[in-house]
Amino acid sequence: MTNVVVIGSQWGDEGKGKIVDWLSERADVIVRFQGGHNAGHTLVVDGVSYKLALLPSGLVRGKLSVIGNGVVVDPHHFVAEVEKLRAQGVAVTPDVLRIAENAPLILSLHRDLDAMREDAASNSGTKIGTTRRGIGPAYEDKVGRRAIRVGDLAEPETLPAKIDRLLTHHNALRRGMGVDEISFDALHDELSSVAEHVLPYIDQVWRLLDEQRKAGARILFEGAQGALLDNDHGTYPFVTSSNTVAGQAAAGSGLGPTALGYVLGITKAYTTRVGEGPFPCELHDEIGQHLSTVGREVGVNTGRPRRCGWFDAVLVRQTVKTSGITGIALTKLDVLDGLDELKICVGYTLDGKEIDYLPASQAAQARVEPIYITLEGWKESTVGARKWADLPAQAIKYVRQVEELIGAPVALLSTSPEREDTILVTDPFEG
Ligand code: GDP
Ligand code: IMO
Ligand code: MG
Repeated sequence: MTNVVVIGSQWGDEGKGKIVDWLSERADVIVRFQGGHNAGHTLVVDGVSYKLALLPSGLVRGKLSVIGNGVVVDPHHFVAEVEKLRAQGVAVTPDVLRIAENAPLILSLHRDLDAMREDAASNSGTKIGTTRRGIGPAYEDKVGRRAIRVGDLAEPETLPAKIDRLLTHHNALRRGMGVDEISFDALHDELSSVAEHVLPYIDQVWRLLDEQRKAGARILFEGAQGALLDNDHGTYPFVTSSNTVAGQAAAGSGLGPTALGYVLGITKAYTTRVGEGPFPCELHDEIGQHLSTVGREVGVNTGRPRRCGWFDAVLVRQTVKTSGITGIALTKLDVLDGLDELKICVGYTLDGKEIDYLPASQAAQARVEPIYITLEGWKESTVGARKWADLPAQAIKYVRQVEELIGAPVALLSTSPEREDTILVTDPFEG
């Protein structure tokens, strides 16, 4: 028996929410360890859809859910998401939900800055296409050692100095951008207004998780975004502001790396990306439209259409290495139903030379051209398949080809948004 780390192996939206929900039946504790409410995780249970951004997906099953120190917490959003889940009948209390006291806060000034930068960059053509939720600015303040953290809300006497420090930085930026400065009182009021809603949940998460681990609990780490959005390993600068690779599960929860166990890379059977940045296999034709429509590829939080393309084995093969993936959960295979033929990108050409990896250089990433192999499609429907034997031979061939190209086996296969439409090949908790 082992713990399991779930990460996205592409550019996010691979179906992490569905798989975490499915796996959480077998888990005792579910932990978010990076990102914030830029995530949009969808679970469908008996036709009812739950959309989670900040809260761990395990809450829907009533499992102990933890927001680790690696997460950036928007307290306003927290209150709203708790309310939304309660309205759907999910119990959210400190019995089942804890927030690390050392997690940094996302405040209105972070959201403002994110939006102002994106607006300014739109005019100069250099925008990232962020979720505009203040994620980048909040992480900047964290590593800049001026963040206000969740636990600071419990110490009103130390807040004034922290507010001054944060405003010295932000007001200088705001002056430079020609917008009104933020007053001490406004920020103080904002912090005071959220404190009572957040403080009941704070905890020493590193200790709680250590105790749980010693008691034999199975811990499920829920990643957000995907490895190609990782701040180090992704398509920089078109990335998010946290590390999204599996190794972050340790630092972002307060457990050492030996606690991590099985790494499950959630992998869409094709590729999507939302926001700006390179996408070698992007399709602008009717096949891209098919993937978009049949796959319902629209961003959960921002409503933006997701860009779609063929499966890129180069990217996932790289993620298998950068995240130490043990096995993958292959999702949305059903979206490929009915296509005459399917292409898989197996390498790139860069300036006339063949390469088998994604180069780190931004300019080179923009120039690589995919090299495809072509496979025969299948006409049968795989929607809702729950057994390997329900899959057409060509679909099995596609899965086998993916495994071979990325160098990792399929542990789970997902064939619809519904929780139960999942084929188990290897139980990640059993290693
Ligand atoms: P996440 O961010 O990785 O949790 O993924 P999202 O929830 O943003 O996007 C995945 C979308 O695909 C959601 O709408 C899911 O309900 C849906 N989904 C997940 N698995 C499958 C699948 O196997 N087949 C189909 N058709 N949809 C799926
Ligand atoms: P889940 O967990 C897909 C993208 C944004 C943008 C870039 C930076 O649902 O897979 P940010 O707001 O994080 O500074 O934006 O990252 N992005 C995601 N794309 N799925 C996500 O989360 C994402 N979270 C951020 O679109 O390109
Ligand atoms: Mg998503």
